[in-house]
Amino acid sequence: MNNASSSAIQAIPIPVVRPRRLRRTAAIRELLEETRVTAADLIAPLFVKEGTGPAEAVGSMPDVFRLNLEQLVEECRALSTLGIRGVALFPVTPAVLKDSRGSEALNPDCLVLRAVRAVKAAVPDLVLFTDIALDPYTNHGHDGVLTADGGDVDNDATVAILALMAVLHAAAGTDFVAPSDMMDGRVAALRAALDAAGHCETGILAYSAKFASAYYGPFREAVGSAAAAGTKQLDKRTYQLNPANRREALADALLDEAEGADLLMVKPAGPYLDIVRELRDASSLPIAAYQVSGEYAQLHAAAEKGWLDLRKTRDESLLAIRRAGADLILTYFAKSVATDLAGAHTPRITK
Ligand code: PBG
Repeated sequence: MNNASSSAIQAIPIPVVRPRRLRRTAAIRELLEETRVTAADLIAPLFVKEGTGPAEAVGSMPDVFRLNLEQLVEECRALSTLGIRGVALFPVTPAVLKDSRGSEALNPDCLVLRAVRAVKAAVPDLVLFTDIALDPYTNHGHDGVLTADGGDVDNDATVAILALMAVLHAAAGTDFVAPSDMMDGRVAALRAALDAAGHCETGILAYSAKFASAYYGPFREAVGSAAAAGTKQLDKRTYQLNPANRREALADALLDEAEGADLLMVKPAGPYLDIVRELRDASSLPIAAYQVSGEYAQLHAAAEKGWLDLRKTRDESLLAIRRAGADLILTYFAKSVATDLAGAHTPRITK
C-alpha cells in the first residue's frame, strides 16, 4: 500500500513553472501589458523663430525645425488633431537681442509671448508649457545673470527676474510655466509672484531633477545658446545637478514639491530612469520626464547608419520612461509617435 502510493506520487512529473504561458499569443501579451504609451502622454517641444522665412532644419535633430509664428500655429493645430495635448515652446532669440542680463526675456512683446498668444487664439485647448530661464536671451548662454566677477550665476538676482518673466508668461496665457534654471527658491518665488498678480490658475512644471548633462548639445544648437557662448559645452555645474548624485537629486526635487510645484520633471530621461522611479515613489505629484535632444539625436544617428531600427528604439525608449514611472514625456518624437498611433489599427505603440 505504502509502496504503491509512493510510486504513484513519483510518477507525477513535477510541473515546470511556465511564465511563457503569459507570452504565448499577441492577444495574451496585449491583455497583460502593464505599461502603454499614448499620444496623450506626450508633450512636443517646439522651436519658434522670428520673421516669416522658411522653416530651418536643426542639423543634429532630424525632422525638427525652427518654425516661424505662422508655421508654429499650423504645427500646433496638426499636433492637436493627432491627439497631442501639450506643447513646450522654446524661442530662438536673434543674437542682436541678447545681452548679459537676458533683458529680452522681460520684453512684454518678445517672441515666445507672441507665440503663446497666437497658439492660444488658434488652438485654445492645447496645453502650453513655456520655459522660464534666461539662456535663450543671454549672450553668455547661462540660465541666469552672472555675479559681479562673472564667475557664477547669481541665484537671487536671477530668481527675481524669473518671477517677473513667469508673470508675463501667465498674462500671455500660458498654462504652465516651466522653470528650467535650477536656481534655489525659484518655485516658491514664481508661485508667490503668480498668485500676487492674480494668476493662481497658472501651473508650475518644475524641472526638478535637471542634471548637468552632455545630452543637451543639439538643443543648444537649436536655440543658439551654445553659439552665444561660443562653445558647445556650456558648463552649468554650479546649478544643474551632478549626474553622479541620486540622493541630492531627490532632495532637490522634493524641495520643488514643498515650494508649490504642480508637476515635477526629471531631465534627461533615458539615462536617469532610476531617478524617475525614485521620484515616482517619493511623491504623489505627476512626474514628467524630458527625453532630451541628445537622446533623440543618438537614436536618429544610429538609425541613419542602419545600426538601429528607429521606430522600434523610439517606442522602446518611450515605453521604458513610462515604465520607470513617468506620467508625461516631453519628446521630439511626439509627432511621429502620434502619427503612427493615429494610423494604427489599435492605438498602441508597443507591438
Ligand atoms: C535650458 C534648457 C535646456 C534644455 C531645455 N531648457 C538646455 C540647457 O540646460 O542648456 C534642453 C533640452 C534638450 O536638450 O532637449 N534652460
